[in-house]
Amino acid sequence: MSNILVTGGAGYIGSHTVHQLTQRGHQVTVLDDLSTGFRDAVPEPQLHICSLFDTEQVTHLLQRLQIDAVVHFAAFIAVGESTQEPERYFTNNVAGSLSLFSAMAAAGVKKLVFSSTAAVYGNPLSTPIPETAPIAPVNPYGETKATVERTLEWLDRCRGLRSVRLRYFNACGANEAAGLSERHVPETHLIPLLMKAVVTGQPVTIFGTDYPTPDGTCIRDYIHVDDLAKAHIAAIDHLLSGGPSEVFNVGTGRGFSVREVLAAVEQVTGRPVPHVFGPRRDGDPAELVADSSKLRARLGWNPDHSTLHQIVASAWPSQQRRWA
Ligand SMILES: NC(=O)c1ccc[n+]([C@@H]2O[C@H](COP(=O)([O-])OP(=O)(O)OC[C@H]3O[C@@H](n4cnc5c(N)ncnc54)[C@H](O)[C@@H]3O)[C@@H](O)[C@H]2O)c1
Repeated sequence: MSNILVTGGAGYIGSHTVHQLTQRGHQVTVLDDLSTGFRDAVPEPQLHICSLFDTEQVTHLLQRLQIDAVVHFAAFIAVGESTQEPERYFTNNVAGSLSLFSAMAAAGVKKLVFSSTAAVYGNPLSTPIPETAPIAPVNPYGETKATVERTLEWLDRCRGLRSVRLRYFNACGANEAAGLSERHVPETHLIPLLMKAVVTGQPVTIFGTDYPTPDGTCIRDYIHVDDLAKAHIAAIDHLLSGGPSEVFNVGTGRGFSVREVLAAVEQVTGRPVPHVFGPRRDGDPAELVADSSKLRARLGWNPDHSTLHQIVASAWPSQQRRWA
């Protein structure tokens, strides 16, 4: 059992990971400013409402709780918003992370799991994408994550900070039994938006039908949030047992088109998804699918909640309540 600090633990992926870490017997504390997270996503005694930017308070918390490792989710995550407000994204995601890393240095905490993203690859040359593919983000959000990744490589060399950088593909699904769900505001993710259309009757827009894919719509790798959480457990175990810094893709290795996801939502809900077709969005690659063989081989990770049916079925009860 270890003492783990989870930044952004009141958010979507963070809260699912806090749940699994706690179930594994770890002593988990959440640091979150609730800018996009929810107070009720975390058991009250575990939550410390605090910003990444409060270096002094974060240092004090790390020391007082004798934290062994940090899992760092806290960030702004909307790609479109990042192109409209790049300064705000660089400030929160990069400067906020630097404040955390300074606090960790002051407190002598040397293990970190970092939430990175497939967006660091930009428009990949080919898929499935291995971790060795070029880092070439095409929006400020992806650039903030690539910058923190590079910072972590230097902190490994200069400070002995061991980190696991996890590049998530499309997080989705929910843990209904644990009372956890996805509720980003504004919502930008496909499955909640398809379900919103089912519940409200207001059509959802499908962006682009002329991509070079079998049915013309974008293909993405959908990974259940509980499988993502499981990757963090494996990463923490790796670091706590003295493992070196690593970078891993987290995805299933199988892609689904927007039309396939829409069909799965219709099948699970038993209702049509009202939709209209719109033009392509800038910066949306045709296909993003992970080569996750490294994570499977090195950490023995395997997704077991991530068939499309499992994902959609797990999301439906909470999304149905959310949009009613
Ligand atoms: N959702 C996805 O599909 C996806 C894909 C790739 C990577 N990621 C990364 O995973 C992480 C979590 O994403 P999510 O979907 O759970 O987002 P989320 O918005 O639900 O969670 C982010 C949490 O961080 C907190 N936060 C933000 N800035 C903070 C600050 N300065 N100080 C303290 N707390 C702060 C928010 O209040 C929120 O609780 C992010 O780093 C994101 O970039 C997400």
